[in-house]
Amino acid sequence: CKSPRVTIVGAGRVGSTLAQRVAEKNLADVVLLDIVEGMPQGLALDLLEARGLELHHRQIIGTNNYADTCDSQIVVITAGVPRKPGMSRDDLLKTNAKIVVDAAKNAIAFSPNAILIIVTNPLDVMTYLAWQATGLPRYRIMGMAGVLDSARFETFIALELGVLPADVQAVVLGSHGDLMVPLSRYATVNGIPITELLDRETIGRLVERTRNGGGEIVELMQTGGAFFAPASAISVMVESILLNQSRLLAVATYLQGEYGLNDIVIGVPCRLGCAGIENIVELHLTDEEAEALQSSAQWVRDNITQAQEILAMKP
Ligand code: APR
Repeated sequence: CKSPRVTIVGAGRVGSTLAQRVAEKNLADVVLLDIVEGMPQGLALDLLEARGLELHHRQIIGTNNYADTCDSQIVVITAGVPRKPGMSRDDLLKTNAKIVVDAAKNAIAFSPNAILIIVTNPLDVMTYLAWQATGLPRYRIMGMAGVLDSARFETFIALELGVLPADVQAVVLGSHGDLMVPLSRYATVNGIPITELLDRETIGRLVERTRNGGGEIVELMQTGGAFFAPASAISVMVESILLNQSRLLAVATYLQGEYGLNDIVIGVPCRLGCAGIENIVELHLTDEEAEALQSSAQWVRDNITQAQEILAMKP
């Protein structure tokens, strides 16, 4: 019998940390693919040399060739370039959109049954473009952001209250970025709503910090963005799919009327199992929350249109 296999396209900081998580959690064999020659091979060898110490026996391969990724159950795409001085936002969007679309097509050519998880930013837009380019059914392609944004919100709540992070549950909907929609009224500490434990101003401050979660880390590090928590968030999704756990997680998915939104990718609660997205859960939102989700969707829509225009993909 064959071990499950996870391919990670883009062996940068997020990709290589994810490879470590997947192998050390003993979830699957890992193929790390990157455009840079030697780099994914070196990382794979380094991870292999840790196997005896970390007590697992997963295969880890580094490659520059999609043929080596064949028959993967899951393909995670983190490939992209960071913005360089003098590079416009449009140039960056165009470059990364091309990288993601090519990676998705190449990966699916060798793993026609794979489930795709897109991580490259802006991930709601990238997931939409990859869905369109591959023609995959919507339950097999998704973006990672909500799990990370929710974990950040949970972290800030736990820090504020001085409770165990694992005792805090929260959910963040919408696009990844300033317009994400943290749902404070659904956040609890072991079932107790945070609205019973914290005042409005404090909750507002934690929501703002969550919205700026990625930016806060970039500002501190100066040389790039977060990768430990993003890799953990992806590994939770990978685990729910491979182990058919049906976990209910915030995932960027293609909507067809859910939440009153059509033909767009945005983060909403989904159950993740072995087939991918098993179903989308529609929550009853207050007017304020619904409006915030609409604004978030409008931002994604504008960016998809812009990306399609610069890619000249629009008919
Ligand atoms: N094919 C394969 N790999 C590629 C390609 C390509 N066409 N183009 C670039 N890459 C690789 C780079 O060589 C690099 O190793 O993608 C990797 C990206 O890694 P990092 O620059 O370290 O970026 P990282 O911090 O891992 O973030 C990756 O995730 O959270 C998002 O916004 C973040 O879009 C970014 C992505």
